[in-house]
Amino acid sequence: MAIIAPSLLSADFLHLKSVCEMLDKSNADWFHLDVMDGRFVPNISFGPMIVEFIRTTTQKCCDVHLMIEEPEKFAEAFKKAGADNLTVHYEACIHLHRNIQQIKSLDMKAGVAINPHTPVEALKDILTEIDLVCLMSVNPGFGGQKFIPGTLEKIKSLRQMIDERQLKVLIEIDGGVTIENAAEILSAGADVLVAGNTVLKSDNPIHTIDILKAF
Ligand code: DX5
Ligand code: ZN
Repeated sequence: MAIIAPSLLSADFLHLKSVCEMLDKSNADWFHLDVMDGRFVPNISFGPMIVEFIRTTTQKCCDVHLMIEEPEKFAEAFKKAGADNLTVHYEACIHLHRNIQQIKSLDMKAGVAINPHTPVEALKDILTEIDLVCLMSVNPGFGGQKFIPGTLEKIKSLRQMIDERQLKVLIEIDGGVTIENAAEILSAGADVLVAGNTVLKSDNPIHTIDILKAF
């Protein structure tokens, strides 16, 4: 069964507490928390302080997606804020292996995200070290964008790479996931669906989560 990870980026931040409580009671599995620095991506979202507040509302996995440069400067702060998974971008890390070791030494699950233009083959030599690959199916920076169809082929190739090596790395798809494309994404081999607008801008987020969960 798919892991459903609503992205809080699409939440009404004036009502963040009630959104979190609603998601906590729902069948959502993870809270996906998008951190943006205005440098790696052309947008700024929130940092460890907000993650810490969100952490107090749930025991569910807090899946923190860092769209920031120099993530090594903040790994410890996100651990303290309560992150369970910490994902860094391949494109932002010159010493990716070192970043991964740092995350694991802080006792968090380590993820690597790749932008739409980065081939999955670039992950070949890091796959054994990580817990999660976040395949960006939009250009990172904003919620509510359209799914890039070429991602489906990338999911299939990555699934094959993981299975051939008999690894347990999760494939997470981030951006433009909808009720219409979820089945195709999962049958291509994805494990985790991030969904921002699809869940939080729907009339009944609890029901939308159940629909996604049922695929
Ligand atoms: C985009 C973020 C996503 C975003 C997804 O840069 O990484 O997690 O919130 O939002 P939707 O599901 O609306 O495309
Ligand atoms: Zn994300």
